[in-house]
Amino acid sequence: MNIMDQNSTPLFDALKKYVDDGVIPFHVPGHKRGRGIKELTQFLGQNTMAIDVNGMEDLDNICNPIGVIKQSAQLLAQLYGADHAFFLVNGTSQGIHTMILNTCKPGDEIILPRNAHKSTIGAMILSGAKPVYVQPEINYELGIAMGMSVESVERAMERHPNAVGVFIINPTYYGVVSDLKRITKMAHERNMTVLVDEAHGSHLKFSKQLPPSAMDCGADMSALSLHKTGGSLTQSSALIIRGDEAYANRVKSSINLTQTTSASYILMASLDVARKQLALRGEELVERSLELARYARRRINEIPGLYAFGKEITGTPGSFDFDETKLGIHVRGLGLTGYKMEAILRKKYNIQIELSDLYNIMAIISLGDTKEDVDALIRALEDIAGQQGVHKVANSTMVPYKPKLVVSPRDAFYSMKRSVKLEEAEGEISGEMIMAYPPGIPAICPGERITKEVIEYIQALKREECQLQGPDDPYINYIKVLGQ
Ligand SMILES: Cc1ncc(COP(=O)(O)O)c(C=O)c1O
Repeated sequence: MNIMDQNSTPLFDALKKYVDDGVIPFHVPGHKRGRGIKELTQFLGQNTMAIDVNGMEDLDNICNPIGVIKQSAQLLAQLYGADHAFFLVNGTSQGIHTMILNTCKPGDEIILPRNAHKSTIGAMILSGAKPVYVQPEINYELGIAMGMSVESVERAMERHPNAVGVFIINPTYYGVVSDLKRITKMAHERNMTVLVDEAHGSHLKFSKQLPPSAMDCGADMSALSLHKTGGSLTQSSALIIRGDEAYANRVKSSINLTQTTSASYILMASLDVARKQLALRGEELVERSLELARYARRRINEIPGLYAFGKEITGTPGSFDFDETKLGIHVRGLGLTGYKMEAILRKKYNIQIELSDLYNIMAIISLGDTKEDVDALIRALEDIAGQQGVHKVANSTMVPYKPKLVVSPRDAFYSMKRSVKLEEAEGEISGEMIMAYPPGIPAICPGERITKEVIEYIQALKREECQLQGPDDPYINYIKVLGQ
């Protein structure tokens, strides 16, 4: 396959041919090209409905790709420097489930950062693997978790030499990057598989000004949310791997444990077209977003009370490098929480940012952004700052702490449980996960001891009206703990 092939879109072309051929559809989906649900068809358009089809010979099958899906996926593998690629229609969450199910048998240990996404904990429950948590470094000034230091990963490897893999986030939601190359080398010297969560990193490959991608660092597997920063539609992700055909077939079996047998061709077509666009124009588009992010950062840092953190945090503990397209803004200097700032931006200025936490907001700058939109954000921030004035920053910073794992996530998940009031749960073992969403990073996981600090942390998040998810009780007045 040569680079010219990147100009082609095998799956998208096959879908367009299917539509042009006017095939009479006696197959699901039952709306039959939109005729059966006219209101939606009117809004989404005839073409969208016409390519909402199911697996068949000329369109291949997601569960055993041998035709156009396979060809399109191979182009993606080639683009990212991997040996094989698989399309996923349940996001990078599915990629993370697959990587861990494929690598760990029940009881196997895997090293991972404690601030991993909730799908990672889900994968522990599904696989029966035992997490060896590494505490990410904490930036107390910003109040965010950074990456894992090489030293802390090395300590975990020395204490757990039989761990089968290391799981790394590249980059974190906030754009922070660990020293993936060195960690990968250390892992391979110990026969550990390197699994990378690149939910926020599908664009890294396309600019030398950004941190290196997982495959460029020698990792074994990476799950990429192309829908987050690569231009494809929500839910469409990819798993890319290194290895021979036999290994790829095993990975395929692992994917099929959680893969729907009715994958959306709309999502898969979007992966095909996004991959072509990245191949042909990725560098131009990603570097344009990088320039926009740098411009925004410079202007926001002229506003008293705001701090748009950037490349300067590189070299601080847990930050080997930084992805500048993640525009994190520390808002504490205006006397606001990130949640409040998010709400003001939405309600008063019609601007929706990606993420907020107690102290920060974060805007993602990607290939779809324009200078006009970035200027609207800057103007809104100037306006809000003018009204708020600069506040003295309190010293105390609440950040998630390192909880102690007492029972494996799987055992905790399947244990008998009872409900107790959150404020009375100190000392109990949690039977469920509670997380702030976004970023979907757990405050407590199944099997962990609930401490006073975690109760106070969850209560503080509740007071600030942070979106909390996970437990049975939607208001989180109660939490399920182990025991009868
Ligand atoms: C760090 C991280 N990993 C994994 C995921 C899951 O990705 P997806 O939404 O594509 O399932 C997310 C989602 O926000 C994430 O932030």
